[in-house]
Amino acid sequence: MTFTKNSLEERLELGELVTFTPSPFRLPTGDDLAFLMQQQLSSTAHKNISYNPAEHSVSSFVQHSSEQADRLRTLMRDFSQHVQSWLATLLPRYAQAWQPDRASLRTAEEATRKLRMTARNDLLHFDAFPSRPTRGYRILRCYVNINPIDDRVWTTSETFARVLDKYGEQVGFPTHDSNTWVRKIGQGILGLFQPNVLERTGYDDFMLRLHHFLKTNEDFQERSPRRLWHFKPGTAWLLFSDTISHAELRGQYALEHSFFVAPETLALPEESPPMQLERLCGASVLSNAA
Ligand SMILES: [Fe+2]
Repeated sequence: MTFTKNSLEERLELGELVTFTPSPFRLPTGDDLAFLMQQQLSSTAHKNISYNPAEHSVSSFVQHSSEQADRLRTLMRDFSQHVQSWLATLLPRYAQAWQPDRASLRTAEEATRKLRMTARNDLLHFDAFPSRPTRGYRILRCYVNINPIDDRVWTTSETFARVLDKYGEQVGFPTHDSNTWVRKIGQGILGLFQPNVLERTGYDDFMLRLHHFLKTNEDFQERSPRRLWHFKPGTAWLLFSDTISHAELRGQYALEHSFFVAPETLALPEESPPMQLERLCGASVLSNAA
């Protein structure tokens, strides 16, 4: 399939991964790059070092001194601002209402890290964040390989539309009242620890179920068509990670920024995962859990 006649927004929304070589936004170099590459995750419970631009805070890193923490915060803020200003020029229709989410620093080697099954990056999946439901917003992610020598290697496979058609019924479509009490109890417990967490919709629950289903589904992991990507040092790439299935196979040292894109700014709103799901299951999937 080719998307060459479509706008960039349409290409992304239909599940294309788009690369940019060299990176179109400024990257850390010299001592700053070396400093970022030295940072370590504070525990295996966290997948990445995380920067929250709304709070200007960094979490999940091993802190040695306040100077180190300040420098890391500053470098992550710079990265966040550079990506935001580039993307706002590239995709202005999204920027008018998007919500910048977290940025992350990835210093672990993907090929050898030990993660529980549902957290593994090397298994094909669509993204769904358990603690940050999108409620119908789309997940746009920008990655850049800051490794000065080695490629970052990914694979991508089928789009949400094809996977929904193939496995949606097995995953279990949302209904008006299915599992409501289970979801309420689960979110009540989560809310005790994260009081600001938003309530999940039927769509968010479905995306979480789909995420876990695909990672443990041998048929999908072993037999779905794959495209292999070798992202060279300094290459950036963009994708809607709720629309194209993907896995990270190998690579160390990357930066990433996520954005929640508002449904009303999409070029092809009817092709969005929540709208596709709604059409197929015949129920509203974006209302609050009843
Ligand atoms: Fe992912």
